[in-house]
Amino acid sequence: MKKIMLVFGTRPEAIKMCPLVLELRGRTDMFETVVCVTGQHREMLDSVLETFNVVPDHDMSIMDSGQTLFDITAKVMAGMRRVLDVEKPDVVLVHGDTTTSFAAALACFYAGIRVGHVEAGLRTYNIDSPYPEEFNRQAVDIVSVLSFAPTEASRANLLREGKLAETIFVTGNTGIDALKTTVRADFSHHLLEWAAGSRLVVMTAHRHENLGEPMHRFFRAIRRVVDEFDDVKVIYSVHLNPVVGQAAESELGEHPRIRLISPPLDVIPFHNFLARAHLILTDSGGIQEEAPSLGKPVLVLRDTTERPEGIEAGTLKLVGTGEESVYDGFKLLLTDVVLYEKMSAASNPYGDGLASKRIADILAEKIR
Ligand code: UD1
Ligand code: UDP
Repeated sequence: MKKIMLVFGTRPEAIKMCPLVLELRGRTDMFETVVCVTGQHREMLDSVLETFNVVPDHDMSIMDSGQTLFDITAKVMAGMRRVLDVEKPDVVLVHGDTTTSFAAALACFYAGIRVGHVEAGLRTYNIDSPYPEEFNRQAVDIVSVLSFAPTEASRANLLREGKLAETIFVTGNTGIDALKTTVRADFSHHLLEWAAGSRLVVMTAHRHENLGEPMHRFFRAIRRVVDEFDDVKVIYSVHLNPVVGQAAESELGEHPRIRLISPPLDVIPFHNFLARAHLILTDSGGIQEEAPSLGKPVLVLRDTTERPEGIEAGTLKLVGTGEESVYDGFKLLLTDVVLYEKMSAASNPYGDGLASKRIADILAEKIR
């Protein structure tokens, strides 16, 4: 029996790792599956665990309000040392580019335990953007012995960096596995009733490098545009970081056509809101993957993206974080019908919803 331990700690990791947990736990003849959460996020993690019915075997409960990268790294390293000592897994799976993933992978490297990286090979090659995620994902890839790349482009990045071809597997993104289970034709919600008859804009923002002035700038731009279009309503699901909440309140609060939703929407309502949106404004990574398969245009509130597939598919457009560039980009997408139609074509660059199954098959074959 192979012991596989999955380690994750934030909302996006949980959304993308829970389908894999369920797949591995379903193969009881082959795997002993251990789930360890760091608790880098608390409420936002717990709501996903509850949605997918995943009960962790270990919970480091590390979150503090105002936590720094030092705090997260140090606490995860210490927690991992204890858990690895007890569990002695054959392989540890981490996801993506969070500091939980980086510190957990580093701990495994120190302990001589193999690491598998789910969502490997994404790159901007700009170490400052997104910060610190570009460092985190490159560091995880260095210590991984199995790389589960979502697309051919991410595989190509890894090959270029010297990873061995036989350790890289293109699987699709497990986030699409999750999306296939959450979006429902009969979903209803009072906020959707509020937005009925309007063009619904769904919005999120949280990136570290956008905290402070950049966020204030693009919030101001968004308010200016909404003021000009009576038929536009915005549902902004606000991240629990208090810095985000304060900026959102001060720039976007008390507007009759903007709803600030805090605590943020759980994954099932959120995915169903995306599916019914006219367009999406976000600096999120995961939403850039979900939108193409839903056929929803996204204006990405960033200067760089590690998701070129969505740009190629025509769904994503980088509008930066400048007040005028966001104002212009948002207004254009509301007025240019041809552009809107072009960006609304659904495509499937991130997979078919079977990524978890593929990863489990590969683990069954490769882990001895
Ligand atoms: C983290 C990840 C980022 C990922 C994002 C997803 C790092 C360095 N950053 O950033 O890559 O895109 O998660 O959302 O790994 N908070 C709560 N309750 C929660 C979650 C957060 O109160 O359930 C508050 C706390 O005050 C916390 C703050 O948000 O200190 C920031 O959380 P943190 O995980 O440090 O940063 P994120 O911006 O969420
Ligand atoms: N999400 C959610 N509720 C929200 C905002 C996002 O359930 O209010 C989901 C979203 O659909 C995606 C994931 O959370 O699956 C992305 O998380 P986030 O944007 O926090 O992190 P990132 O992907 O940028 O790391």
